[in-house]
Amino acid sequence: MGNIVIRNAAQLVTCSGRAARKGAAMSELTVIENGAVVVTDGVIAYVGRTEDLPAWDYSGYEKIDATGRAVLPGFVDSHTHLVFGGFREEEFSWRMRGDSYMSIMERGGGIHSTMNATRRASFEELKTAARERLDRMFALGVTTVEGKSGYGMDCETELRQLEVMRALNGEHPVDIVPTFMGAHATPAEWKGREDGFIDWLIAEVMPEVAARGLAECCDIFCERGVFTIEQSRRYLTAAAEMGFRTKIHADEIVDTGGAALAAELGTLSADHLLMTSDEGIRALAASGTVATLLPCTAFSLREHYARGREMIDAGCAVALATDLNPGSSFTSSIPLTIAIACIYMKMSPEEAVTALTLNAAAACGRADRVGSIDEGKQGDLVVLDFPSYKFLPYHVGMNIVRTVVKRGVAYHNQLTIDNRRQAERH
Ligand code: NIG
Ligand code: FE
Repeated sequence: MGNIVIRNAAQLVTCSGRAARKGAAMSELTVIENGAVVVTDGVIAYVGRTEDLPAWDYSGYEKIDATGRAVLPGFVDSHTHLVFGGFREEEFSWRMRGDSYMSIMERGGGIHSTMNATRRASFEELKTAARERLDRMFALGVTTVEGKSGYGMDCETELRQLEVMRALNGEHPVDIVPTFMGAHATPAEWKGREDGFIDWLIAEVMPEVAARGLAECCDIFCERGVFTIEQSRRYLTAAAEMGFRTKIHADEIVDTGGAALAAELGTLSADHLLMTSDEGIRALAASGTVATLLPCTAFSLREHYARGREMIDAGCAVALATDLNPGSSFTSSIPLTIAIACIYMKMSPEEAVTALTLNAAAACGRADRVGSIDEGKQGDLVVLDFPSYKFLPYHVGMNIVRTVVKRGVAYHNQLTIDNRRQAERH
């Protein structure tokens, strides 16, 4: 928990709000020029213009002069699979040669390959690898990340993945929102008995996860050849009854009606949505479910992008996330996510910022605590190298986050000698 006062921000981009913004409202960032923000004991205590800064005693406060720099809420990466064993670099080469993601999975690779490596990995091995991934995310300005289990698909390994997230939550500045995703694929021992596998997850694993308080959300891969709409409805309904928030991987490869199911069940988010129909988009727009788009996945799989522009025009609340995982999107790059969203998905810089802050926070059930610079929220901020948020897509693919503030404690990206000097002066 820290105390910090930031003054003279060229732009203080607040993204103010406590619920997801839909449609045209995604363009309203609420920008304060010559802005100041005060964080006391890790919580935002003042947001406004520098000249109006209250005359408190700031002696115990770290001070940042943000002249010529934009300050934004810390980014929220609301869809990742950050705890896993092994890698799948060979599969990437096969895909570049023309093999499809699903054909590799059907041959026993893909998620199954990572499942085997994760089952073999110890708690410490998983934790060390995940911690390094968190470090990289943090340097890119991510202050809250959602993380899924789902590479165990047996009780022991699913719990181990979630325990790793719990341990890292206590040790690393980045907050992890843990999600149980036992229904990520059907492991070999259950092949052909998908309904039985879902029943077992509901009867045995989910209650254990709930009893140990290891996850806030539950997620399922609803896809042709993976889990059906009926199985997804049953799994997510049971999860909600056990007190979990729900999420769904929907309409990624084939449109099976996952978006409509998400709207019907009122899930926090429906994710991927590459193939979602107009009807599915309308259902999402009419619902409280956030449409979470994962441009790096479509990019890495060489698929066409989700219809982000049309979704926002139809009135959806859109979030962006990286989908960091060892298969379909081995990247936690926020800069690449923003670049693709703006250049290829035709989202505006304003919409991209909302999609990575307030809407992403809503997509993982945290919009009451993070995702905007509002008094009472956690003091999670980023200071950019440039005076405007518009540099985020414009400086294509570059990390322009200079300083990350987590609960009022500043961490400086020491990219240049000049940055180091700057950090020492504060
Ligand atoms: O969100 N599509 C399903 N699950 C992950 C990929 C997992 C993997 O390939 O290991 C996703 O893309
Ligand atoms: Fe995913």
